[in-house]
Amino acid sequence: MIIVIDGPAGSGKSSTAKAIANSLHIQFLDSGALYRALTYLWLRRGKPDKAEFFENLSEIELQTDYSNQVFHVQANGENITDKIRLQEVANHVSEIASDPRSRSFVNGYMKKLVAQGVFVADGRDLGTAVFPDAELKFYMDASLDERAARRFKEIEGTENDVTLEQVKQNLAERDHKDSNRKSDPLRKAEDAIVVDTSGKSFEEQLSEMLEIIDEELKLK
Ligand code: DC
Repeated sequence: MIIVIDGPAGSGKSSTAKAIANSLHIQFLDSGALYRALTYLWLRRGKPDKAEFFENLSEIELQTDYSNQVFHVQANGENITDKIRLQEVANHVSEIASDPRSRSFVNGYMKKLVAQGVFVADGRDLGTAVFPDAELKFYMDASLDERAARRFKEIEGTENDVTLEQVKQNLAERDHKDSNRKSDPLRKAEDAIVVDTSGKSFEEQLSEMLEIIDEELKLK
């Protein structure tokens, strides 16, 4: 069983999905983290030829779990949870996420995982391409300024040379690339419930969504 939350970067999907997972005692799956993991590995290998990298994706064994408010990612046994959040990874992730081979790798991983439990997952194309039959679909959105401010707060202190303006620019570029790529672009599923979080407190929009989940799925 799966609840999906799609939307642009920084719309609050991931913190909301985590809060939903905590509240309902279900598992959380961060699909962007999987694209970030591939991007990190590609960067660390010295940006090898992409065709070669994508051909050998089956050599990468991912393992993920959500505990203590953190979505942990391991690649071939190495913990890369913190590394995938680096700005350098964010700067290159669209290049990797736009390729159908990396999408099919990530989607395969997610489908296997979700078959084993009850999940809330966040992403861009979950309601449209990956889990079109999801039990419940949300599409979260917020203004670019608000999303940049949130993302900046998240990474502030971890990388001291990144400015708010750079974060905003990176988000705007990613929005553009995520929405315009050929393979499974960012798109609202027809049957998704839209939640615009601009000007809403986290608690407000969370309780709005929990109410919808309760009405629709009777999970509590
Ligand atoms: O959610 P995030 O910002 O951590 O995602 C990182 C990147 O991964 C984002 O720029 C787009 C891509 N992504 C995607 O293409 N499809 C998904 N389902 C999730 C993320």
